[in-house]
Amino acid sequence: MAEIRVDGARLWDSLMEMGRIGATPKGGVGRLALTDLDKQARDLFVRWCEAAGCAVRVDRMGNIFARRAGTYDGLAPVMTGSHLDSQPLGGRFDGAYGVLAGLEVVRALNDAGVATRAPLDVVAWTDEEGARFKAGMMGSGVFAGLQDLEAALANPDDEGKTMGAELARIGYAGTEPVGNPVAAFFEAHIEQGPVLEAEGIPVGVVLGGQGQRCFRVTVTGEEGHAGTLPMDRRKDALLGAARMIAALNGVAFAHEPHPVITVGALQVRPNSPNTIPGQAVFTIDSRHPDDDTLATVAADMRAACEDIAAEAGLEVALEQTTSRGSLVFDETCVAAVRAAAERLGTPHRDIYSGAGHDACNLALIAPTAMIFVPCEKGISHNEAENAKPEDLAAGCDVLLQVMVERAGAAG
Ligand code: HGY
Ligand code: MN
Ligand code: MN
Repeated sequence: MAEIRVDGARLWDSLMEMGRIGATPKGGVGRLALTDLDKQARDLFVRWCEAAGCAVRVDRMGNIFARRAGTYDGLAPVMTGSHLDSQPLGGRFDGAYGVLAGLEVVRALNDAGVATRAPLDVVAWTDEEGARFKAGMMGSGVFAGLQDLEAALANPDDEGKTMGAELARIGYAGTEPVGNPVAAFFEAHIEQGPVLEAEGIPVGVVLGGQGQRCFRVTVTGEEGHAGTLPMDRRKDALLGAARMIAALNGVAFAHEPHPVITVGALQVRPNSPNTIPGQAVFTIDSRHPDDDTLATVAADMRAACEDIAAEAGLEVALEQTTSRGSLVFDETCVAAVRAAAERLGTPHRDIYSGAGHDACNLALIAPTAMIFVPCEKGISHNEAENAKPEDLAAGCDVLLQVMVERAGAAG
């Protein structure tokens, strides 16, 4: 099995073709979950999988499973995959690499005429990024039992369109139940950080990931006339939110090592230049490797917001939308990734993930590990995101090895 190699040029070509869907002027992609562009990407992936002989099924969360049959189809599948949705100004590799690396494994095994005992599933998970529906990793979250299916389908975007309605609109409201036994899950992904590139190492053996807590903060004041209401009588929700956001930045620097705290989305109501804002809603994304520190940070952030609201005569409500503990991946799967890189003679190093991934959800229900490859200057969630074909192929070769090892080569 060690002699089989993926076709790096074919993988790169597939990534470039997928990257043309939602392509942005600066070389990135904007392919928000469940938009027409996401549909186009999904349709292309399904066409490619069917052309590779896979049977494709879609579950009620719109997760797409492309199955390469094994010789013992009653066995639980060895799964790989990631996501096709992107950030609004995202990159061509975040997510798409993990989905298309899985497809390349199937294509390479077909070329080699190799069968596996257990079936292989290549998965495109729904809405990993959460950029549109403001709660990420929904498809894999429902699959892993972390999120409720009906609540997820009822989740609205900023225009009030629900996930369920949008899945139906793009033709991916599947009928399959969400969740099935999984023998193991492996996800290939760009590192989205600078370590591997800085050390010139093509493969990262991912040991685990940091914890994450996200909030939706609603600040309520009173609308008023911009020209007539004196400054000392205003209940300006946006001014309050701005002071809270600055205070949250201070909370990050009050802890060592620093958590990462990001306010990435803000809505103002009524959002009119000459009306004092009566409401401001913003998101908080906080992350740290230590769960106790993350809990303390959450308490500090809540206190900072409530103190500012009390002083300014505003109301504030913090709703926790995500709470994910730090995790370590399955030892046997991690060891298999490391051993595969060794067998292939590929330089590698252990690494932790700062980013969240669908694998973090799958790790709750199945033996799971990840394979990282470098990205240029560690840049991601940015149109300039880039990676080298040879690194993408090296990671995909490791993925092929661990999937076949776990599924068992037939014959
Ligand atoms: O936010 C994350 O960590 C992931 O890239 N969606
Ligand atoms: Mn991703
Ligand atoms: Mn991402």
